[in-house]
Amino acid sequence: MKDMPQLGIGTFRLEGDVARDAVTNALDVGFRHIDTAQIYGNEAQVGDAIQTSGIARSDLFVTTKVWYESLGDDHFIPSVHESLAKLKLEYVDLLLVHWPYPGTDIALEAYLTQLAEAKKLGLARHIGVSNFTIDLMDKAEAILGKGELYTNQIELHPFMQNQQVVKACRDKGIRVTAYMPFAVGDVMKDDTLKQIADAHGATPAQVVLSWMEKRHYYAIPSSTSRQHLSENLAYGGVQLSDEELLRIDGLDNGKRIVNPDFAPQWD
Ligand SMILES: NC(=O)c1ccc[n+]([C@@H]2O[C@H](COP(=O)([O-])OP(=O)(O)OC[C@H]3O[C@@H](n4cnc5c(N)ncnc54)[C@H](OP(=O)(O)O)[C@@H]3O)[C@@H](O)[C@H]2O)c1
Repeated sequence: MKDMPQLGIGTFRLEGDVARDAVTNALDVGFRHIDTAQIYGNEAQVGDAIQTSGIARSDLFVTTKVWYESLGDDHFIPSVHESLAKLKLEYVDLLLVHWPYPGTDIALEAYLTQLAEAKKLGLARHIGVSNFTIDLMDKAEAILGKGELYTNQIELHPFMQNQQVVKACRDKGIRVTAYMPFAVGDVMKDDTLKQIADAHGATPAQVVLSWMEKRHYYAIPSSTSRQHLSENLAYGGVQLSDEELLRIDGLDNGKRIVNPDFAPQWD
């Protein structure tokens, strides 16, 4: 089975033709890992881009996420079928619970059982979570069993390194997927990252991706620009020194970008 490529493309905020074109360009320049979600409203366009690319299904790694309003017993599996119909796929490689359920009327055990059921039914090769705290990961592991959670997808960029959750993921053998790895473009404006980038004849985006790889994070930046996509994919040429890696570690200020009113009590 194909493992999740370390670098993928995100599709949050991309709608209609913009989403279709971004994914088409990404696949064309060589990306094989795509991250979408029911709530992004672009699964159909992601599916169009996959279909027209002609790339073999087995060469792709596609993730989607179940929105919290679809976590109830009656909605969960039908919503996954709906996602697959839009994506024009028979299975996703990774199915995530997008956010822990914020209310009290649907229990964690109930919706994680549905998540496991989706895998049993062959609708998803791997299952995981997103925006889960340490406590929720502990509970999820107890419900699903060790080794079942493929990843926890969390906000992670140089300014928000989420170290406690990362450590808990490491202890449990859960992959860390960094969402908003460029802090929605803010990394391009940071003086330290610009300095390091200049020293390597690289872009701040490439520096961040290189740092992420060294720190064993999976990363899913989005881009609507074919040039940015190509540059991001080529980050591997940047070899950061230990001192540079430590300087980037030191940029953490714990400032969150994503903090909706339905978010859990963060660690
Ligand atoms: N699980 C969750 O709750 C959750 C929450 C948020 C996001 N996500 C996922 O994480 C993905 C990434 O987050 P994001 O898209 O919000 O933010 P991001 O990837 O941190 O930043 C995207 C921004 O970076 C710019 N960019 C990309 N490459 C660049 C380059 N080489 N040079 C200059 N600018 C560059 C893009 O502009 P251009 O388009 O001009 O290149 C875009 O404005 C999302 O798309 C989504 O799939 C998940």
